[in-house]
Amino acid sequence: MKTLKEYFQEIKLAKKAIGHFNFSTADQLRAFVEVAVELNVPVMVATSEGEAKFVGYEQAVALVKSWQDKTGHPIFLNADHHKSWETAKAAIDAGYDTVLIDASKMPYQENVELTKKVVDYAKSKNPDMMIEGELGYLRGESEVQAKVEIKPEDYAKPEEARDFVEKTGAERLAIAFGNIHGITTEQDMHLDLDLLGKIVEVVPETNLVLHGGSGLLDNEVSDAIKRGITNVHVNTELRMAYHDALVKQFTSEPNQTTPYKFLKPSYEATKEVARKKLELFTR
Ligand code: 13P
Repeated sequence: MKTLKEYFQEIKLAKKAIGHFNFSTADQLRAFVEVAVELNVPVMVATSEGEAKFVGYEQAVALVKSWQDKTGHPIFLNADHHKSWETAKAAIDAGYDTVLIDASKMPYQENVELTKKVVDYAKSKNPDMMIEGELGYLRGESEVQAKVEIKPEDYAKPEEARDFVEKTGAERLAIAFGNIHGITTEQDMHLDLDLLGKIVEVVPETNLVLHGGSGLLDNEVSDAIKRGITNVHVNTELRMAYHDALVKQFTSEPNQTTPYKFLKPSYEATKEVARKKLELFTR
């Protein structure tokens, strides 16, 4: 099996992106795996700190490993937005394939130091392990919100990107360039593709990650991929599909108490969203 790094090398050359989907239930994970196998594309699945707390670090690793073993398909488990040394280390120790150490809210120097510490630890355990860092302030939560204010100072700075990558050894970089987490109902979100272009110029070898893949226009996501994004994270649209199907299910059959029956529409709705996203990222 090729490493995640090798899959990123291939996807970069092809000017496509690897999809990254968050889960906190076994049926969401199953939906992502089945769609990735069906479309024959690599996939990253992930737990945030909150999702990992609910699922369990060792349990998330065991679940993903069971799918890796069963399918032989490239499925990689990421610890998404892990914000401290303790949680990043817990994910690495549990056997996650990769980690996003998100110290973007810290002062720049502290972000550099913590990211480097996680990169060094990960490499000491497995030299092939790729670590992601984050620059800029990505506002919002993975839920539906009316508006999310974005300030120009939140954006990732090209002059920091080169320095950050050199000092930390991070091989994927999450950047804020107009994206937010979640979906807004009273605001259109737009990506600053010129800023993306400037960052690509200074760190051409780094895999740039688009977070907040929900609620963006498909053509902007495609343009961002053509301009150098190689990884797109999606959570809110998947959560909404799961939630909305569940509400509909309980409305139509309030007395259904068998989880594998009342969860089936949610699992199917999740597959549909994941399929559309993977098709968009690899077209
Ligand atoms: P959305 O919830 O906006 O899709 O963002 C997810 C994300 O970036 C997870 O890292």
